[in-house]
Amino acid sequence: MTKLWGGRFQKSAEQWVDKFGASISFDQTLVMEDLDGSIAHVQMLGDCNILPAEDVQKILGGLVQLKKRAAENTLEFTVANEDIHLNLEKMLIDLIGPVGGKLHTGRSRNDQVATDMHLFLKNRVAEIIELIELFQKTIVAQAEIHVETLAPGYTHLQRAQPISFAHHLMAYFWMLERDKERFNDSIKRIDISPLGAGALAGTTFPIDRKLSAEYLGFAQVYANSMDAVSDRDFIVEFLSNSSMLMAHLSRFAEEIILWSSAEFNFIELDDSFSTGSSIMPQKKNPDMAELIRGKTGRVYGNLMGLLTVIKGLPLAYNKDLQEDKEGMFDTVHTIVGSLKIFEGMVRTMNVHTEHLRDTVHKDFSNATELADYLAAKGVPFREAHEVTGKLVLLCIQRGYFLLDLPLEDLQEASNLFNSDIFDVLSPLAAVKRRNSFGGTGFEQVQLQIEEAKKCLA
Ligand code: ARG
Repeated sequence: MTKLWGGRFQKSAEQWVDKFGASISFDQTLVMEDLDGSIAHVQMLGDCNILPAEDVQKILGGLVQLKKRAAENTLEFTVANEDIHLNLEKMLIDLIGPVGGKLHTGRSRNDQVATDMHLFLKNRVAEIIELIELFQKTIVAQAEIHVETLAPGYTHLQRAQPISFAHHLMAYFWMLERDKERFNDSIKRIDISPLGAGALAGTTFPIDRKLSAEYLGFAQVYANSMDAVSDRDFIVEFLSNSSMLMAHLSRFAEEIILWSSAEFNFIELDDSFSTGSSIMPQKKNPDMAELIRGKTGRVYGNLMGLLTVIKGLPLAYNKDLQEDKEGMFDTVHTIVGSLKIFEGMVRTMNVHTEHLRDTVHKDFSNATELADYLAAKGVPFREAHEVTGKLVLLCIQRGYFLLDLPLEDLQEASNLFNSDIFDVLSPLAAVKRRNSFGGTGFEQVQLQIEEAKKCLA
């Protein structure tokens, strides 16, 4: 089959060489964006009197038919036509005749493919932002149920201080809020039209780039045609924002995995988000959380991949840039799937409220209360810390916890202790009294939830 660009060639490449260079196996994902870009381009060519109205109508008719077939999934792509752009152009010419060949007037595949990528990401990022919000709503809904659910808070994965379980969940809300802001902010760098930049230098035809940009709903046009066709920063930025998002999901996934182990036993995942073992009949595995943790690797990989592709590329377009696509498609697919799964997992998980409360009664996570008690009575905190440490040691030696200490032992350690120390030491009081802004005190958590709802409104 002769190539659309075959004029200056005397022999054609062998099929396996064509196959290596072709991108159609993956860039067919851009079929709708490519057709939309062509529709805007040909309309502009008509408006600027570059093509006669009659040709424009024929081309538009063909493109609309192709869109219909694309929606029905009945287009048949071939490696012989290399990529989505040439496949569609060939189909158009086959459909409406040689006039279809006028579509490419004043345009190059270089600005065409860049346009497709901008359109694609603009739409996907909007979807991703919606999915993040949906997940945030689910986190808030769970948090509202668990404001007064006591849970151990950790540092170094050692029990540190008791907290509200809602406070722990809400930490992830705010991470996602930042992710959402980053995606939102990136839109202004995605929402720019490269169309009309041509191969690299613009075109001799009197085109109107602002008009085609307007047809496509782009907010701006690139100011420099060479930058327009070689810029992939917006994709790097998308991959970077996705990597940060996956880091957050992966941390949360790790906690879900820990919490659902027999050792923690803080939650049970719903059967619908768990899997069994082929050999051990008792197993219920948090596979979905593990997969999300694992998929973080491929998203980071996609980011490193593209950063490496663009490093050292001379201006303007180079075929290396064809390597921008698979990682981006894969990342969209991965984060959309991960967000949906995570939302369902958190929405349906069963929180073991009583067990969580029990755990904070069987540890030393109220030791800070004891030290703070003395510090509030004027003892330098460093000294109060030392006294408390000794009391913890005494309890460990005797095999009980701070609340079990007889008052006499406490008073021997410091005459400032009174019987009110036992109220202060209760984990409930410990959480309630941490009422500093952003702290885990119930009032603060409630306020935080109200703030979060405002972000979602
Ligand atoms: N398939 C190509 C890509 O994705 C389209 C642009 C090709 N341009 C060129 N001058 N060969 O990058």
